[in-house]
Amino acid sequence: MKEKIGTYIEAIDKAIAKNKEELEQFRLRFISRKGVLTELFEEFKKVPNEQKREIGGELNVLKQKAQEKFQELIDQVNGSAGDNAEHDLDVTLPPIVEEGSVHPLSKVKNRIIQIFERQGFSVKEGPEIEDDFHNFTALNFPENHPAREMQDTYFISKNPDILLRTHTSNVQIRLMEHGKPPFRSIMPGRVFRNEAISARAHCFFNQVEGLYVDKDVSFKDLKQTLYHFAKELFGEDTQIRFRPSFFPFTEPSAEIDISCFICKGDGCKICKHTGWVEIGGSGMVDPNVLESCGIDPKEYSGFAFGMGIERITMLKYQIDDIRLFSENDLRFLKQF
Ligand code: PHE
Repeated sequence: MKEKIGTYIEAIDKAIAKNKEELEQFRLRFISRKGVLTELFEEFKKVPNEQKREIGGELNVLKQKAQEKFQELIDQVNGSAGDNAEHDLDVTLPPIVEEGSVHPLSKVKNRIIQIFERQGFSVKEGPEIEDDFHNFTALNFPENHPAREMQDTYFISKNPDILLRTHTSNVQIRLMEHGKPPFRSIMPGRVFRNEAISARAHCFFNQVEGLYVDKDVSFKDLKQTLYHFAKELFGEDTQIRFRPSFFPFTEPSAEIDISCFICKGDGCKICKHTGWVEIGGSGMVDPNVLESCGIDPKEYSGFAFGMGIERITMLKYQIDDIRLFSENDLRFLKQF
């Protein structure tokens, strides 16, 4: 065994590696678990006790030499890879750090939150997987009523009482059923609708909903709140317009339009030459909704509104395809 060790030490001393293949050969022969070291340590177990000390010592020398040589060969091979290896490192160069950026939807969402927080609204969140009561029934959608078809719904097939929320209005209910007025919150979050995906529609998107319930809240409070919001987000000269509409959970209800901030009302592609663009829905909370949350509609009133964050972001940055938000194409995301 001593002889064997001697021969290997000699081989190691002489070893050279001109390229990666030769380096790998060295590794396989001496370092890898199937190499000579493992084999020798196996053999060592059978060495009589009185020789163990001496041979063990030599074996350790061999092991150390193999490792040192291997490191030396690695340095040699890597060093000769570049022509001018020593000069490849320039410590004065700035570090290459790939910087990420905030997703445009998060940017707009954060800005919306900031504007409403300044008006005294807090931020509330709720579940994306919801039951029928919080998504529909408590919001005054009667059972089997066609109003439910306004929002094509994903149901969980095993239990049709459970669904993916179609709007963030479920958070209104969750907020009101467990508390006492006044409530003044906005509720951003993801919602789901069973729609064909196209440049203008997606099966999931984000909304931000607002709710204000207190004594003597009136439509003029709604108007003032949204007017201030629109001016902050789209510019000081933005005008706001309400168009009569219908939602089961608000009465009266209105769509919210803002004056087109691109053409300033002259008419362009974005506003389809009307001078106005729609940003969401709103209205006074229906007394039935307050009642289903245990709030007396004779004592309290409130307003609610809801907007699509994708829609607002698309308007703000003139993005013409909603699919871009969820495709994670860096060429798109890097622009924000
Ligand atoms: N929940 C409505 C929707 O998703 C938006 C809305 C919210 C309308 C609050 C009025 C009041 O279409």
